Amino acid sequence: MRKILFASSEVHPLVKTGGLADVSSSLPIALHQNGDDIRIVMPAYRQCLEGLKKIEPVATIKLEGFHLPIEILQATLPDSGVTLWLVHSPEHFDREGGPYGLPQSGDFEDNAARFALFSRAIAVLALDQAGLDWQPDILHCNDWQTGLAPALIADEPHRPATIFTIHNLAYQGLYSRDVFDALDLPERFWHSNGLEFYGLMSFMKGGLIYADHLTTVSPTYAKEICNYEYGYGLEGLLSLRAQQGRLTGILNGIDNNEWDPEVDRYIKKTYSTNNIRNKLVNKAAIQRHFALPENYDALVLGLISRLVSQKGVDITLDAVAKVLEAGVNVQLVCLGSGEASYEQDLRILRARFPDKVGVHIGYDEALSHQIEAGADVFLMPSRFEPCGLNQLYSLRYGTLPVVRNTGGLADSVVDATEENRKNGTATGFKFDLSTSEAMEEALDRALDLFQRPRLWRNMVLTAMEQDYSWEKSSKAYQQLYDRLE
Ligand code: ADP
Ligand code: GLC
Repeated sequence: MRKILFASSEVHPLVKTGGLADVSSSLPIALHQNGDDIRIVMPAYRQCLEGLKKIEPVATIKLEGFHLPIEILQATLPDSGVTLWLVHSPEHFDREGGPYGLPQSGDFEDNAARFALFSRAIAVLALDQAGLDWQPDILHCNDWQTGLAPALIADEPHRPATIFTIHNLAYQGLYSRDVFDALDLPERFWHSNGLEFYGLMSFMKGGLIYADHLTTVSPTYAKEICNYEYGYGLEGLLSLRAQQGRLTGILNGIDNNEWDPEVDRYIKKTYSTNNIRNKLVNKAAIQRHFALPENYDALVLGLISRLVSQKGVDITLDAVAKVLEAGVNVQLVCLGSGEASYEQDLRILRARFPDKVGVHIGYDEALSHQIEAGADVFLMPSRFEPCGLNQLYSLRYGTLPVVRNTGGLADSVVDATEENRKNGTATGFKFDLSTSEAMEEALDRALDLFQRPRLWRNMVLTAMEQDYSWEKSSKAYQQLYDRLE
């Protein structure tokens, strides 16, 4: 049985700031169900210590650069048979706030030390040096917080094959040379063909340079990051990896049990392709929730997002404001949190159109399901989108996505051109340019089609019939593991 150590800094339902957490539970669960022996390793954040039922210490390790011994705790990921290892360093992880910082004051100042420690612990587990008698064949790391682990074990003779998955190249874990010195890392890492990146230390480069293979979360994003526009200065290195056959794009899947309108515990009325009319009960419920008129004829637009530039929130605000100013029968329901200026802009839009716009600033799992179920259209005009999960959830819930044609959005949504509608493949609305005009044009197309209920219904059914479960994508990871073992 193949052994995989899967390392991530956030795992649903324990700790989540975005899609990384969803993937870090749903992919391991799929691999476990396919017969792999997979263990997840993550930091023992306070939420994990409080939220997990049975936790037991299984090992104590000593890490270079840290004076105190670190415990490895073991638990099971809720609702799965997957073993979870937690790196327990109370000084670093048992504190208030999210995994990376406090909502008001931003990132923790010691994040470099926290995730260097995490990476060092991953390395010890990957080399079977924790006394747990479990030697993985594959170490699968995710995003910069785990980036030092492949670097730390690169020269070890009996190491597992290493894979590093890029979920978002925009977050690289960049720190100064002083921080590098304070972390007590080998001097040989300070090299342009190592962790050094234009005078700074890059955690991400630990993965990009030293891992045996790189993946990212959609085929289109895998191509995009090899170009200047999306590469953040790493495009040369990534193009080289692509040429070497060491960079693969694998589209994320979704957890079909968690996101299933037929059994969803959070929504007012469950529905499926057989009783699609029940979706309307959820539409009325979401309108009520946001104190908007319960009007079936209004096209309800949904937005659930981290409120950051990546997600094109400004583009949405402009485009939707124009549509609302034109007096068109649309409503907007938003759930999100992030940059204060975007939060404020959303509130302003609500104040301007109180009977058309509903806004909930914050993070709310149940409400995110209710919006997916109740809206007619889902908005995702991202400037870049490595994969994106919400458009996949939207398809499953028959909530047609309006997306920018980039990354995973390009790979998962089929535009409602006349041809695609006729051959029964259309599932949403795409536009190319990052402008509010381009988005408005896509919204107009959605509005037109919404006036033709039979055509709209056909698209909703096509969307709901798409299969973006992990079935296919987890096999792609397994083939990759086979190749590398
Ligand atoms: P990203 O990881 O870039 O934020 P994804 O689309 O991959 O984008 O994943 C976002 C995940 O986070 C989805 O599961 C989405 O439902 C969830 N999410 C984002 N913002 C919120 C929020 N304010 N409340 C609840 N869930 C949210
Ligand atoms: C990142 C990306 C998002 C992707 C998620 C999971 O947060 O921004 O596009 O879906 O990771 O891979």
